[in-house]
Amino acid sequence: MSKTFRVFVTCDIGDSLNELRERGYEVEVYPKPEAPPKSLIIEKVKSGIDGMITTLRDQIDGEVFEAGKNTLKAVAQIAVGFDNINRADANRYKIPFTHTADVLTEATAEFAFFMTGMLARKMWPAEHLLRKNQWGYWHPYLPFLGDEVTSKTVAIIGTGRIGLAMIRKCSGFDMNMLCYDPAYENRDYIKAIQEIMDLRLARGITKEKNWIKYVPFEEALGEADFASVHVPLLRAGESATPTYHLFNEKTLRLMKPTAYLVNTSRGPVVDEAALARALRENWIAGAALDVYEKEPLPADSPLRDPAIEDRCRLMPHFASAARITRLSADPNKGMAGRCVQGLIDVLEGNYGGDVTKMPYVVNKEAFQK
Ligand code: GLV
Repeated sequence: MSKTFRVFVTCDIGDSLNELRERGYEVEVYPKPEAPPKSLIIEKVKSGIDGMITTLRDQIDGEVFEAGKNTLKAVAQIAVGFDNINRADANRYKIPFTHTADVLTEATAEFAFFMTGMLARKMWPAEHLLRKNQWGYWHPYLPFLGDEVTSKTVAIIGTGRIGLAMIRKCSGFDMNMLCYDPAYENRDYIKAIQEIMDLRLARGITKEKNWIKYVPFEEALGEADFASVHVPLLRAGESATPTYHLFNEKTLRLMKPTAYLVNTSRGPVVDEAALARALRENWIAGAALDVYEKEPLPADSPLRDPAIEDRCRLMPHFASAARITRLSADPNKGMAGRCVQGLIDVLEGNYGGDVTKMPYVVNKEAFQK
């Protein structure tokens, strides 16, 4: 390597950064746990850095790319979602950006599944009861009962990598599935899952027939006992099928009063004011959220209303937060490792320098010959 690359990292991502240091890179890590101010990002980019490692907390837009015109060569995001990076702006400035898809798929899907179960089986209010020393007796139905997930119907909203992994988890719990994807239907996958379900029934492993199918959004919401959201955040103008506020007053009202909503995708896919109302007024039975319109969740969020506390589980954007998933330096296992590898690919011109062949680059369209 003839040149020393300079990289600014907006948040410590652990030992994976040593891979860059060992290759002779100059690596500067923003030392605080919270995101750096945008003015600092711009200052660093203006200073001529070659690459930047970002988190979903950093707004990377035209202003940042302009500051790095002719110097910034790559942005590597440690996340699968990249709605904080303005793709059109990146393309305008011809700056490739990478993400860490795949390595967090199972962690996120299993967390969505656990949240579903925790919510439906009322584990949080049940433990609180015990801790408040209000567990006075075993009783067949007092003080409350939960709902099983087994044999129920789950709407899988978004059948990309994580949605498909959620389908696998749910099929293991003998659930029926109504799938919806605004952009792309993976019918081969759905067919394979149906075949596996049919085999399980034929061999006596399950007792009832389970099924899976694609349906329109309204039908999925109207018939499901659970809805699990796995779409990327796409605002109006970013896609022919935007997902911003896909769950709003109108669509939440389509759900059954006994149904639960689970969101591990991006907060703005759900209109939180409408959801808080849906919970207060019992349009739906409960919700479990890992992501929010504004993160961290503001102190005055209507989702914190004590009146809905028993049926509203709130997690701190935690679905991919498993040790290996987040920090392994192995690009095939960890977000940190994959993020670093994505940066190296671009800066060192791997794959013959052809950005369109680099597996972790998102905006390949800007580099098509
Ligand atoms: C986390 O939310 C991610 O997009 O990786």
